[in-house]
Amino acid sequence: MSVTRPPAPSSRRAALRTTAVALAATIVVGAAAVAIPAQAASSLKDLATAAGKDIGFALDPNRLSESAYKSIADSEFNLVVAENAMKWDATEPSQNSFSYGQGDQVANYAASTGKELYGHTLVWHSQMPSWTNSLSGSALDSAMRNHVTNVATHFKGKVASWDVVNEAFGENGERRTDSALQQKIGDGYIETAFRTARAADPTAKLCINDYNTDAINSKSTAIYNLVRDFKARGVPIDCVGFQSHLIIGQVPSSMQQNLQRFADLGVDVRITELDIRMTMPSDSSKLATQAADYKKVFQICNAVTRCQGVTIWGITDKYSWVPGVFSGQGAALVWDDNYNKKPAYDAIASAFGGITPTTPPVTTPPVTTPPVTTPPVTTPPVTTPPPSAGCQVSYGVNQWNTGFTANVTVKNTSSSALNGWTLTFSFPSGQSVTQAWSSVTTQSGSAVTVKNAAWNGSIPAGGSTQFGFNGSHSGTNTAPSSFSLNGTVCSVA
Ligand code: G3I
Repeated sequence: MSVTRPPAPSSRRAALRTTAVALAATIVVGAAAVAIPAQAASSLKDLATAAGKDIGFALDPNRLSESAYKSIADSEFNLVVAENAMKWDATEPSQNSFSYGQGDQVANYAASTGKELYGHTLVWHSQMPSWTNSLSGSALDSAMRNHVTNVATHFKGKVASWDVVNEAFGENGERRTDSALQQKIGDGYIETAFRTARAADPTAKLCINDYNTDAINSKSTAIYNLVRDFKARGVPIDCVGFQSHLIIGQVPSSMQQNLQRFADLGVDVRITELDIRMTMPSDSSKLATQAADYKKVFQICNAVTRCQGVTIWGITDKYSWVPGVFSGQGAALVWDDNYNKKPAYDAIASAFGGITPTTPPVTTPPVTTPPVTTPPVTTPPVTTPPPSAGCQVSYGVNQWNTGFTANVTVKNTSSSALNGWTLTFSFPSGQSVTQAWSSVTTQSGSAVTVKNAAWNGSIPAGGSTQFGFNGSHSGTNTAPSSFSLNGTVCSVA
């Protein structure tokens, strides 16, 4: 029997797919609104959010004390995953004694910055705590169930999606042999892990994740067959992660087709650990190839509707895992050792249409003549009323637990164009806007005022525009019943 669950947070951005790239946003905390300057909205985060996609990064919470790290983390990503802090060795260092200090730091960071939290990873043959080494098959099976239950329960309501099982397959498409889980428990451990995770947290999306599965090959086909089997037998599985630890010049030509074949099975897909390494030292030619490769990967995800987004495995080359594992290779990330943007940054932006400054640069030459002293204007200011506005509003919502995303379409049904608009409405059940886009949105009590962004103020007669916002609710999320555009009550579609 299939289980009907509220959409997890990761699916909320899918409702927001739009080609709009220039944003003005307002964060509203309680009743106090803080407008973000238009320029600050020009980031990879804003571009991806406007496109309805996640852009994530792997976080080491110890680095947040570094201001450059934190500043990029805060502004460039809408999703965060713990690089190491939620793994088995970190969360259960002694049997049945759980340690969530660093994992909670990551979860708190996600909550305080409004980012989606991705869980990595419940079950992985690597990074298992040493106490598991001496366990028999049945003891390991019950330790694994206990681990999954505890960790998934602890982060319930916070983690939107889990890598339930990581790296279970070998390159030849057989189950990985150098895994105690595979050796001692056998093939059934993956299914057990997924069923246990679903029982512990029925709302989180459950994913299987692996590397060297970006192309259509033996390994990805083995996972494809597992997903198809799980779907056929009703074993819970919602998504597949493709790590994409790539080498410059080697984005697989079958990658989009590969992601699409999984999506066609009825699961979400995402790029979970993207980095693109090169032989060191780097040079401008290698960096240009890398930039083109980053762009390709983002374009592939953009082209696959069920691709939720791309997560980059870190921020700065300074802390990348790559040089420690692949001798002589590195420079795999988007910011260099000194937090300078590499060419990959603009390339990723261009995959979303490019960053569009919302404040156009001033091009007029400096004034050299003395200022003209115009006499004060004595006539009263012309108070042109706003154009009459017949209007229709469509208010679409995706919601989960205590959060929601609203996607609003405003249609000008009058016979004259609108040049500048203000939409007002009231929340009936105590909702709060937490982040808005394609608008300047403020809230006072239950009253919400949405003004157009700099680029979408004109709505021709018969035309429409869209904006959206994330919000919180306390369990009831009744839609506003009435909207007014420039003071005129609209019909509700
Ligand atoms: O925290 C200890 C420190 O106390 C100790 O002094 C030091 C000595 O080696 O080790 C530190 O732990 C290291 C940890 O990273 C934190 O830096 C581990 O040795 C090291 O093995 C660990 O590496 C991580 C690796 O997974 C293994 O867990 C990498 O940071 C992390 O980027 C990497 O991530 C994996 C994904 O989880 C799965 N896919 C592949 C990806 C890259 O290998």
